[in-house]
Amino acid sequence: VRTQVGIVGAGPAGLWLAHLLAVAGIDSVVLERRSRVEIAATHRAGILEQGTVDLMAALGLDARMRAEGYAHHGIELRVAGEARRVDFADLVGRAVQLYPQQEVFSDLADGAAARGLDVRFEVADVAVHDLTSQAPSITFTDADGTPARLVCDFVAGCDGSRGIAKWAIPENVRTDHFREYPFGWFGILVEAPPSAPELIYAASDHGFALISQRTATTQRMYFQCDPTDRPDNWDDARIWDQLEACTAAPGFALTRGPIVDKTVIPMRSYVCEPMQHGRLFLAGDAGHTVPPTGAKGMNLAAGDVAVLARSLERFYRDGQHDLLDAYSATALARVWKAQHFSWWMTSMLHTHPGASTFDRRRQLGELDLVTTSRAGSTYLAEAYTGWPLIPTR
Ligand code: FAD
Ligand code: DHB
Repeated sequence: VRTQVGIVGAGPAGLWLAHLLAVAGIDSVVLERRSRVEIAATHRAGILEQGTVDLMAALGLDARMRAEGYAHHGIELRVAGEARRVDFADLVGRAVQLYPQQEVFSDLADGAAARGLDVRFEVADVAVHDLTSQAPSITFTDADGTPARLVCDFVAGCDGSRGIAKWAIPENVRTDHFREYPFGWFGILVEAPPSAPELIYAASDHGFALISQRTATTQRMYFQCDPTDRPDNWDDARIWDQLEACTAAPGFALTRGPIVDKTVIPMRSYVCEPMQHGRLFLAGDAGHTVPPTGAKGMNLAAGDVAVLARSLERFYRDGQHDLLDAYSATALARVWKAQHFSWWMTSMLHTHPGASTFDRRRQLGELDLVTTSRAGSTYLAEAYTGWPLIPTR
């Protein structure tokens, strides 16, 4: 098989890229290890920045997102039981959209079929070859067990944080920037009406909790836990006690319901630099990971592929490889801003094991500053609603 761009991974990054390339008249083949059903059943991100919403619109895939998602014009930071709203509309004139990643995936996968894109699920043994030659290739085993080789002009590694693509960048040219956190998130999915109209990020003496939403009847909630904890260690009563302790505030009642999913999410910050080697380009979680506080993961994938698609379009249209050469540096400018923001939100809102009274009081001072100073809350609002997908400087 021959194509222009071979894409490894059919998460948001891989499918967005395939759509963007198709719009520009560039062929691609997407190779995905998991089944469509499995990906659509995995609960992950929930918040789309304005730029990500615009990307779905540019691809003509925004109808369901607008009908079934919710525009959020602010968030609540709850500091030791006191509500402090950060008003995005007032501070930066922008909003975010609550719309689950599985729904984004379904819209992209349905749209891929409608656009006639070549997306192959349930392939195995994916390996990339000859990345510094003019004709790199990807070998794999097709869903029916047939070994196959895809020869292409470029390879896009969109295979997420546990993918194989980044390991093809030789160790002597790659720097792995890595940071781990001494806590994780315990995430639950609840069948209940929303407890609040907007997301609540709660910093309390009992730890951090996030009250998020999905639909009128399903909610997503998280609380800080030990990163090595296991879902089975928490029965429903203990989960509700912890969530209530973290979010307690005058007049607030958490609406309970059956817990239908429990997961422990580890937290790390990671950047692979550079995000390219020869004719291989990494995009999304394949090139970097952020801790989830601040909802940047999926939105970073949107930025990377917008930059990559534009660079490939320039190559095929004008024969110029200047934008491709600059891909990693261009994409990383946005990535590092989001790395800082995600680290900052995480550090500011969580209870750090072993923190001194100084650390804790300083943290409360910071939260007070961020929620009472217009300059402080404007930074949060600007970063949360997101920077342009393609950095302007
Ligand atoms: P992915 O969505 O991971 O897609 C990569 C795809 O590549 C996968 O479908 C995978 O099966 C496939 N693949 C991997 N290896 C191979 C291979 N060798 N061959 C072929 N295919 C392969 N972000 C937030 O903003 N908020 C959240 O609440 C949040 N929660 C998360 C919870 C969990 C458990 C995880 C893991 C992530 C979460 N994230 C969250 C991050 C967010 O989901 C990711 O940033 C986003 O999915 C990135 O998209 P992607 O396309 O780069 O990677
Ligand atoms: C969700 C996850 C996040 O990490 C976040 O900051 C906001 C919302 C969510 O899953 O809804």
